[in-house]
Amino acid sequence: MSVRKLGYVGLNVRDIATVKTIFGRVLGMQARPGGDGTISYRMDARHHRFTFVPGNSDSLAYVGWETDSLEALQRLAETIGRQGHAVRPATAQEKAERAVLDMFWFDGPDGVRTEIAFGGIEDAEPFAPARTISGFRTEEQGLGHVVLGSADADATVKFYRDSLGFSVSDYIHWDVCRATFLHCNARHHSLAVMNPVYGTAAGQLNHVMVQANAMDDVGRAYDIVRDLGIPVVLTLGKHSNDHMTSFYIQTPGGWAIEYGHGAREIDNDWDVKYYDSPRLWGHHLQSPAVPPR
Ligand SMILES: [Fe+2]
Repeated sequence: MSVRKLGYVGLNVRDIATVKTIFGRVLGMQARPGGDGTISYRMDARHHRFTFVPGNSDSLAYVGWETDSLEALQRLAETIGRQGHAVRPATAQEKAERAVLDMFWFDGPDGVRTEIAFGGIEDAEPFAPARTISGFRTEEQGLGHVVLGSADADATVKFYRDSLGFSVSDYIHWDVCRATFLHCNARHHSLAVMNPVYGTAAGQLNHVMVQANAMDDVGRAYDIVRDLGIPVVLTLGKHSNDHMTSFYIQTPGGWAIEYGHGAREIDNDWDVKYYDSPRLWGHHLQSPAVPPR
């Protein structure tokens, strides 16, 4: 039994104003204000995929993975429960807030609130981007990818493989970083697990990646962050493993956003590899406080 894609992500943020600038003006996502100052962002046909809760901390609130059926959701809940995790069904309010048909959650590795859902609402209204873009590569590949810090990365990788059905795409070890990349659909990786380095604590988000349908969308965003003075963590470059051409935007919460285009995809003949560098070219580190890849 396996999850099939990354569905949504929630974050607690202190500086909501900068988040709004990045997700709206830079990435072109559509803001959906909620109650209590919460703001969600839409990037495709789904009701929303990102939710930001303003407050006194910067932290990962939850990661939402999706199954491809209600039956698979139920079976996964039973499997995870049998493995000793306290599985909690979503309340009606939680399902409404996530905009899903059904969901359960449990405390995953490193205390990450791990939610498993099915049936993200497809909105009847068309996606209305905040700037003119070609859109994002989502659908059966999900939102994009998340990279998480872990105190025991080997055990965490084992959990995602054995309990949630991920497969390893490849490994990159460079500098002080040890990262394992995992897929659950054709996207090269929907998840990567790294040791807690480069300022990313265990259980926290190193970065989230969203993939543009056109390279020009990425190039224009690169111009916009330059014009607005928003810090870039990694300059434009190309990754060794997924071949994504991307750059990384710094957020005030310490995590980054990778915005890229052109990644290669997993196929039936996928060959798991080991690299000693995350980059083919570019991706030069701009801010020592924050993390590559
Ligand atoms: Fe990435």
